[in-house]
Amino acid sequence: MDDLDEQARAILKGNDRGGYTVPTGGLYPYQWNWDSVFAAAGFAEHDLSRAWEEIETLFSGQWSTGMVPHIIFHKVDPSYFPGPDIWGGVGPLPSSGISQPPIAATFIRALHALDPEGSEARVRALIPRLRDWHRWFFDWRGEGGAICVSHPWETGRDNCPDWDGPFANIQPEGVEQYYRRDTTHVKEDERPRSYDYDRYLYLVKLGHDCGWDEAHLKEVSPFRVADPTMTFTLLRANRDLLALSQAFGEPTDEIEGWIAAIEAGSEQLWNPEIGAYDCLDMRTGEHTGVISSASFLHWFAGVGEDRMLAHYDRITSDVRFSMPSTDPAHPQYEPRRYWRGPVWGMMNWLIATGLHEAGHEDRAEALRLNTAEVIRTGGFAEYFDPRDGSPAGGRNFTWTAATWLGWASPNTKGITCPVSS
Ligand code: GLC
Repeated sequence: MDDLDEQARAILKGNDRGGYTVPTGGLYPYQWNWDSVFAAAGFAEHDLSRAWEEIETLFSGQWSTGMVPHIIFHKVDPSYFPGPDIWGGVGPLPSSGISQPPIAATFIRALHALDPEGSEARVRALIPRLRDWHRWFFDWRGEGGAICVSHPWETGRDNCPDWDGPFANIQPEGVEQYYRRDTTHVKEDERPRSYDYDRYLYLVKLGHDCGWDEAHLKEVSPFRVADPTMTFTLLRANRDLLALSQAFGEPTDEIEGWIAAIEAGSEQLWNPEIGAYDCLDMRTGEHTGVISSASFLHWFAGVGEDRMLAHYDRITSDVRFSMPSTDPAHPQYEPRRYWRGPVWGMMNWLIATGLHEAGHEDRAEALRLNTAEVIRTGGFAEYFDPRDGSPAGGRNFTWTAATWLGWASPNTKGITCPVSS
């Protein structure tokens, strides 16, 4: 019995708003897409029914286009900006207009494995919804099998240095005066700069003004970047959706087609100059040249074999706590600023799942122990300084608590993602 197990359960409970959890009160008072999927995996440790409810509430915000939004604004809360009016989402519930890394299929499969009979009806209902969502990615974000984003927030890695190049080409004209709320909750030097915020809001306005018309945005948006987070999580999610579809006698041809296309297309993200996966700016054709924690998701996707292994070993031996969100050798590395350096526990969970499946059990286990240690050192923070594990960003964070319960804790049984086929 570990006090941290109880603390983690208490955090999930404290962030529960009835059918969905917020990432943390104040800073993020709504339902976020991939946060909720991790939350479900945390709940599954002690309350499987609540875990399913979390996912179902997320899908209740799905648009008729198939898109599952990155934020659902169930109850308006002025402590967050930009809220529903700025976004102008056009789905069944007030929401943002972009999506987030599609990890749901992978964790739905894992939840299903915990109780195959009891969850049958729920999985059956979710499969077509997952298919519609994945199709939306393929149709509107696919570029020859590499998966793009139309906004940095879509990757969940809001201010990583990958966006510095694409952002330099954006003049954020027409953005009205605004008042950030995030820096009232968290120290400014642990958050994105205002230079970035101006551009985030410029891209939100672009979508809002055309009613989130994807065909139009694909044509005019200055920001269209193929990204390893999206490409690798979607590839993995399609493998899991395929396995579920096979088990439930659902159609599989289309999903097999997506898998083949993304397997081939992910090669576009390989940057031979740095010998690593990075982002590719579709507007300029240039690679971003940044090795990030997302670069190491290729094992999770089941591609690339061991071509990143030397970088993995170099970076993990360079810092006390892994995996820093940006390579410490990169000139733009900032160990406390959000996605420009800090360690994010839930990314480690995905990376380790891939490492394990690729036969690197030792590295996977070392990363799990290292994540447990960073949480013991810094608590259930949003993210951590890779040098000493000190906490940064928000506290009492849902996905850090979920990562503990579902994976890092030495005491809980946790959630194991079935091996991708
Ligand atoms: C930040 C993170 C994103 C996360 C959200 C809520 O925007 O970059 O990944 O989903 O906060 O925690």
